[in-house]
Amino acid sequence: MRMRNPKYMNEVIESCPFLIKNAINFEKEYPIHIEIGMGKGNFILNMAKKYPHINFIGIEKYSSVASIAIKKIMELEEELPNLKIIISDIKNLEELLKCKVEVIYLNFSDPWPKKKHAKRRLTSPEFLKLYDKLFKGKARIYMKTDNDDLFSYSLDSLKEHGYEFKKISYDLKDENIDNVLTEYEEKFQNQGIKIKYFEAIK
Ligand SMILES: C[S@@+](CC[C@H](N)C(=O)[O-])C[C@H]1O[C@@H](n2cnc3c(N)ncnc32)[C@H](O)[C@@H]1O
Repeated sequence: MRMRNPKYMNEVIESCPFLIKNAINFEKEYPIHIEIGMGKGNFILNMAKKYPHINFIGIEKYSSVASIAIKKIMELEEELPNLKIIISDIKNLEELLKCKVEVIYLNFSDPWPKKKHAKRRLTSPEFLKLYDKLFKGKARIYMKTDNDDLFSYSLDSLKEHGYEFKKISYDLKDENIDNVLTEYEEKFQNQGIKIKYFEAIK
């Protein structure tokens, strides 16, 4: 998601107390869940509110987009000591996140429909190999998407990589799961578009 830089971008990024630059420094040693491509941050911030005994990291590669999430979090009345943000492409975070993560959320990841761009999909074999290095113990990937092709590609790619599926849904609204909405999800839901979802484990 590329967009123009908000006027407040540099200011909020410089003053943000929960931005991770070098080391992961949560107050409490809870399990760590990350969202790769958090966009404007609604999902990760509401997850952090809902689950105070899990540490969450929202990762976004564009500063312009991440600054919107940061501003939202800074303006909350309550502090969320279990929420941190990283502005970076996930490709560059192998060392920082190594062997710490318990769950990865991929919400409405860019579909990269052209075959020649398949490597850029966040469920390509290249990314799955990277995630292997980030997980501590069991690997869990939870994915939501509106995109049929990305969903079917991701099911095949994860299966090929040794994952099993605890849940597969072709219409998330029919499922009895504890769902926290993302910005894209809200938009698609309002348009009546079915959201596909899986929970994968390895
Ligand atoms: C389509 S948006 C979805 C945003 C949000 N998850 C939602 O559901 O509303 C995908 C986001 O992932 C980010 N992104 C894509 N590839 C990434 C990568 N390799 N590392 C970090 N962020 C990435 C994009 O910049 C964009 O903001």
